[in-house]
Amino acid sequence: MAFALVGFVAGPTVCADGAPYTVAEGNKVDKITLQGWRTWRALACERCHGARQEGLVGPPLVESLKRLSKEEFKQTMMKGRPEKGMPNFDGSKMVTENLDGLYAYLKGRSDGAIRPGRLEELK
Ligand code: HEC
Repeated sequence: MAFALVGFVAGPTVCADGAPYTVAEGNKVDKITLQGWRTWRALACERCHGARQEGLVGPPLVESLKRLSKEEFKQTMMKGRPEKGMPNFDGSKMVTENLDGLYAYLKGRSDGAIRPGRLEELK
């Protein structure tokens, strides 16, 4: 069976344990990442960032995640940038409970390791 761990993340901010997600065949992911994707869908981030994270009124997150540290990502999610049109999501239980997964999912998209569209759980 082809089973690949891809997307090693280097750099000081995303620490030594490598990529924050596990993916096989582009669409089978670990539970946390799957929850991140579900959160993305439930909160309809795509209406501003695009279904493929390619950007609409909001910036392309496939690019942003190459630059943002996990901390910066979390800060942006919690506080938003209301003056620029990014809502704050600190009032959303689903977002606050799935920040790691959301980060993992978007990082995987940005790395090109996770395909756009439907995901399923990696068994
Ligand atoms: C109503 C539109 C809207 C929605 C909904 C929205 N965003 Fe945003 N988002 C924006 C805009 C506009 C910006 C750019 C703010 C700026 O210029 O700094 C942004 C910025 C961001 C950034 C920072 C990007 C960067 O390059 O610094 C991240 C990460 C992000 N959004 C993630 C999300 C996620 C995840 C969701 C869903 C939970 C979401 N956004 C929902 C409009 C939106």
